[in-house]
Amino acid sequence: MGKDNLDNEMIDKLTGVGPATAEKLREAGYVDVMSIAVSSPSELAEAAEIGEAVASKIIMDARKQANIGGFETGAMLLEKRAKVGHLSSGSKILDELVGGGFESQAIIELFGEFGSGKTQIAHQLCIIVQLPKEKGGMDGHAFYIDTENTFRPERIVQMAEAYDLDADEALSKIHVARAYNSNHQMLLVDKVKELSKEVPARLLVVDSLTAHFRAEYIGRGALADRQQKLNKHMHDLLRWGDLNNGVVCVTNQVAAKPDAFFGDPTRPIGGHIVGHTATFRIYLRKSKGPKRIARLIDSPHLPEGEAVFTVNEKGIRD
Ligand code: GTP
Ligand code: MG
Repeated sequence: MGKDNLDNEMIDKLTGVGPATAEKLREAGYVDVMSIAVSSPSELAEAAEIGEAVASKIIMDARKQANIGGFETGAMLLEKRAKVGHLSSGSKILDELVGGGFESQAIIELFGEFGSGKTQIAHQLCIIVQLPKEKGGMDGHAFYIDTENTFRPERIVQMAEAYDLDADEALSKIHVARAYNSNHQMLLVDKVKELSKEVPARLLVVDSLTAHFRAEYIGRGALADRQQKLNKHMHDLLRWGDLNNGVVCVTNQVAAKPDAFFGDPTRPIGGHIVGHTATFRIYLRKSKGPKRIARLIDSPHLPEGEAVFTVNEKGIRD
């Protein structure tokens, strides 16, 4: 699986890793250098059927190659927090639920069944991010990674007109890429990072985060691999948010049919991996007609609560 992945290539380059060992490591779920850097010699020796001395050598090299990260002072963190921006959703009530709009340097996960409004909110954010701060925006562009082919420029035109924006200009500030499988989806984040040096983007949408992963990694045997990939993907997304002071918005369906692991039909796909990395999780459900109910779930500093909003021609409103 996934030999075109850059991280897989890096495993091959570690001191002590030949092609056979690399293959065994991949089979055992060590898909990137970081996963090796944080493992123990005995664990790795068993997984790759090598001696512990060789395993230690591999781990030492992986620790050198991997970006373990460092410590930051409280003052540095406060300074970073002071830069956090808020992006309006178009609905005041929904904004209040999340503490005044969606935070930058954070991942917002919208999860809910089909038609619950995830894609509509994602479209709406692509318009509002272009507005100035006074209007709830961030004067920025948007990136949209579309995995289900549900991005609709016509919908963007409608929403732009509702804010008196020039529709063509609004469309020119939204950069859309279709992801054909989960590996492609992950590679597109690297592309977004590169393009963000030229494009002043403040929003990155991944709609849907989990659909490809769910379709490709089937059954219990594939679960560890799927979760590991998703974990890496989420961290890449968060890193983009940090570097660009941007908002990351991902969508996730609830498992309508029992998942291999998460039997509960109201549980979002990806389970605890996605849940722990997302800063805000919003559970959406349908109500009467255009009404939708948003529920905030385990936020780091806000109370749980609900907001009712509507989806109409103009977009997301109270
Ligand atoms: P899945 O991707 O299938 O999981 O669903 P989703 O949560 O992304 O649903 P989505 O955001 O696409 O919501 C679709 C719903 O939004 C429709 O059922 C409509 O109720 C509403 N909607 C979409 N477009 C329009 C529009 O142009 N006008 C109005 N009034 N409502 C719309
Ligand atoms: Mg959708």
